Amino acid sequence: MRLDVVFTPVGLTPADVAGRTVFVIDVLRATTTMCAALKHGARAIIPVSSPEEALRLQQTIGADEVVLAGERNCVPIPGFQLGNSPLEMTTERVGGKLVVVTTTNGTQALLAVQAAGTVFIAAAANLSVVGARAEAAWSDQRDVLIVCAGRENAFALEDAYTAGRLAVAAMGGRRLRRGLNDAALACVDLVRRYGDRWERPLAVSRAGRDLIGLGLGHDVKDSARQDAYPVLAQYHDRRVALVPGA
Ligand code: MLT
Repeated sequence: MRLDVVFTPVGLTPADVAGRTVFVIDVLRATTTMCAALKHGARAIIPVSSPEEALRLQQTIGADEVVLAGERNCVPIPGFQLGNSPLEMTTERVGGKLVVVTTTNGTQALLAVQAAGTVFIAAAANLSVVGARAEAAWSDQRDVLIVCAGRENAFALEDAYTAGRLAVAAMGGRRLRRGLNDAALACVDLVRRYGDRWERPLAVSRAGRDLIGLGLGHDVKDSARQDAYPVLAQYHDRRVALVPGA
């Protein structure tokens, strides 16, 4: 039984994810925004790799059903209805819609684990719900893999801290070492370092500082609200959607 963290999805192969319960984290802001959209009634999120693919999909499915969302370099994509802010995902905008989304790191991380049978999205916004699912997987002796989206193929503090919180939740609140890879151990150490307050690790991270510098500090604050959008959402068949009955 293993609980591994990877700091970026770079180099993950189908064999790395097969048979494991996978959690994908991009707390600033993609997975937080997906939780917000589903909480506010989006039918599903469809992650795609590029703006061109998003536009094509909108044409295929039909503009009435689809809302385009996403960012490049943290700013909204020209021609898209929404950016990548959890605060934009209101019932009026996304209720009943398919949200086709492309972001710099978060959607790429999801696309990298498509071969896994069971993939959940994780953020502070749904930590308790997703933590319970991680604990269930760990107690059932299933291998768990936590994939941080990271930033431009490198370590991101805010995702690693979130991975630590999820790993601790998976172990029922204990901080065990057995079965954890070194990245998971380092993430659990970050939880020792920052405690249970999300604001600091999110705000001091490079992504957090960049967002604050762009006047998007409200998104950093919203992403730091634990259990703000308490949804259990699974990525399956190219869509992120609520797990029925959860
Ligand atoms: C990403 O996917 O790269 C992030 O969510 C970037 C952002 O904060 O918009």
